[in-house]
Amino acid sequence: IAHGKPQRAPAWWQGRRERLLAMADAGTPRYVYDLATVRERARSLIGTDAVDRCFYAMKANSHPAVLKTIVGEGFGLECVSLAEIERVFAAIPHMAPERVLFTPSFAPRREYEAAFKRGVIVTLDNIEALQRWPELFRGRTLWLRLDLGHGEGHHEKVRTGGVAAKFGLPLSRFDAFIEQARKLDVRISGLHAHLGSGIDDPQHWRGVYASLAGLADSVGTVETIDIGGGLPIAYTPEAPAFDLAQWRAGLDEIKAAYPRYGLIIEPGRYLVAESGVLLLAVTQVIEKDGVRRIGCDAGMNALMRPAMYEAYHGIHNLSRFDDSAVAAFDVVGPVCESSDVLGRGRPMPIATEEGDVILVADTGAYGMAMANTYNLRALPAEEVIE
Ligand code: LLP
Repeated sequence: IAHGKPQRAPAWWQGRRERLLAMADAGTPRYVYDLATVRERARSLIGTDAVDRCFYAMKANSHPAVLKTIVGEGFGLECVSLAEIERVFAAIPHMAPERVLFTPSFAPRREYEAAFKRGVIVTLDNIEALQRWPELFRGRTLWLRLDLGHGEGHHEKVRTGGVAAKFGLPLSRFDAFIEQARKLDVRISGLHAHLGSGIDDPQHWRGVYASLAGLADSVGTVETIDIGGGLPIAYTPEAPAFDLAQWRAGLDEIKAAYPRYGLIIEPGRYLVAESGVLLLAVTQVIEKDGVRRIGCDAGMNALMRPAMYEAYHGIHNLSRFDDSAVAAFDVVGPVCESSDVLGRGRPMPIATEEGDVILVADTGAYGMAMANTYNLRALPAEEVIE
C-alpha cells in the first residue's frame, strides 16, 4: 500500500459493463444504483464501536430501495423536509419514529407540527422559533443544532458553519436558548453540529464531539451528541480512500474521554455516492477552435455537481471502454448554459460517436437528488441492481 494510505478498490460497475449497456438501451439519462455497494458502505460504519447510532442523511439519495437497504442495516434516517419524512413512512410503513430525525432549516411551522404528530426526533437551530411559537414547543423534547463558528468541506457552498451560513444557533446565544427552553419546559436531550460536506480530515469529528460534550455537561439533560455527516469519498483517481481506521480511532479516543453521551453520526454521501452511475447517450461530437466536445443527452440538468461546485466525476465511454486511442474532450450536456460541462479535457476515445453510452461515475449522492427540468428536459430514470 503506497504511502500507508488506504487504496481504492475497482468500482463495482467495471465488472458490470454489459449489464449497464443493456440498461442504457431502455433509455437515457438513467441513474443506476448498486445496492450491494450501499450495503457494504453501511456495514463499514455500523461496525464502529464508538458510534451508538447512525442516521442516513436521505437528502443524498432518497430512492425507496436505497432507503430500505440502509434501514435494513440498522440505520435511522435524517430528514430535512416534511416530504422526506413522508417518503420514509411510505417506503417503510413500520419504521419506528424514534429512528427518524428531522433537521430542518427555516421550515414552516406546519412542518414542525407534522413532525411532532409523527413522533420523530426534532432538531431546532434557533431561538426565534421558541419565541415565536411557544405553544408549539412547550413541554417538548428537542435536539439543538449549534454553529461552532466555522464550516468545513469540499467547497465553500457546502460549508454550514460561521456567520455566512444560515444554519445553527451561534454559541453566543447558547445560554439564552437554554434559558428560553427552561421557561417553556422544553427538554434538550441532544446536541447537534454538522459543519459541512466532504471533509477530508478524519480527526474533524472527534473535535466536534469534544466541543459539544463540553457544552452538554452544562445543560444537564443531554443524552445524545450528533456530530453530523460530511464523510468524504475519493472522486478523483489520485485521491486516497477516506481513512476510516483513523476516523474510528479518533472517535474511540474521544468517546472514552466523554463516555456519558450516545454518539450519533448522520452521513449521506459516504453511503451512496459510489453506488451510483449516471448513464448518458452521446448526441453529437463537435470540434470548435481546437476544442473537441462530446455532447450528451443530459448535463447539469441531471447532475448539478460539476456546474455548482466544479466537482470532479470520472467519465467513461462504456461502448468503447477498451479503446486505447484517446484524445482530450470536454464532455457537455444540452442545456443552454456555459456551465453545462460535466468534465473538461478528459481522455476519451477518439472514435466516440453518436449513440455511444457515457458513464459518469460516483453519482449516487446528490445526483438525482438535485436533478431538475431546466429547458423542459425530462428527469433521468432510476434503476437499482439488487
Ligand atoms: N446532516 C446534515 C444536517 C446535513 O445538512 C447534511 C448535508 C448531512 C448530514 C449529510 O452530509 P454528507 O455526509 O452527505 O456530506 N449537494 C452537496 C452536498 C450538500 C450537503 C447538504 N447537507 C454536494 O453535492 O456535494
